[in-house]
Amino acid sequence: MTRILMIVGSMRRDSFNRQLAREIEGLLGARAEVSYLDYAALPYMNQDIEFPAPAEVAQVRAAVQAADGIWICTPEYNSGIPGVLKNLLDWLSRPLVANDPERVSALRGKRVTISGAAGRSAAAGVRGSLAKLLEFMQMRLIGGEGVGVSVNPEAFAGGPLRFTPEQIAALRVQADAFLEALES
Ligand SMILES: Cc1cc2nc3c(=O)[nH]c(=O)nc-3n(C[C@H](O)[C@H](O)[C@H](O)COP(=O)(O)O)c2cc1C
Repeated sequence: MTRILMIVGSMRRDSFNRQLAREIEGLLGARAEVSYLDYAALPYMNQDIEFPAPAEVAQVRAAVQAADGIWICTPEYNSGIPGVLKNLLDWLSRPLVANDPERVSALRGKRVTISGAAGRSAAAGVRGSLAKLLEFMQMRLIGGEGVGVSVNPEAFAGGPLRFTPEQIAALRVQADAFLEALES
């Protein structure tokens, strides 16, 4: 069974992006085994504590290594990547072993795709920045800048988050393409 690890770029309890990830999980259905990365306890990147890796870092690395693919669902903060997500990716981008001349990281060569729920921008800013960053980190990006979802205004006002048929259709295409890439 294809294993997909969801990384949600928000710590918010009622995060729209976590709800987006759940929706995607539904679209993947029985075709994938989906898990969610818990990285709330990760320390800030600090090279003074890099080796040996803190337990929280070892845990997120193990979860990434066990997955066939990574699906990032992220909000947009000031047109860019939320700090918590950037901190996680910085940790994951670092070599597993000190002074490794090959600088092998948990992310290198891992297949990844991007979605984002935000305001009117549909997370275009963060998706663009993230696409560049993930390629810089030598990940295999599937689906380019991915799929953006503009959150319905009622949800921002405390009402339920609703996805339009067009948004669902785009996410379905992304899910099918990602699964195909992971299975090939
Ligand atoms: C610090 C900060 C900056 C934000 N900047 C943007 C932005 O540039 N563009 C945008 O569409 N939304 C922006 N937002 C709104 C978030 O996209 C919105 O709150 C989103 O629902 C957060 O995702 P979440 O529900 O998964 O936590 C910002 C929110 C915060 C807290």
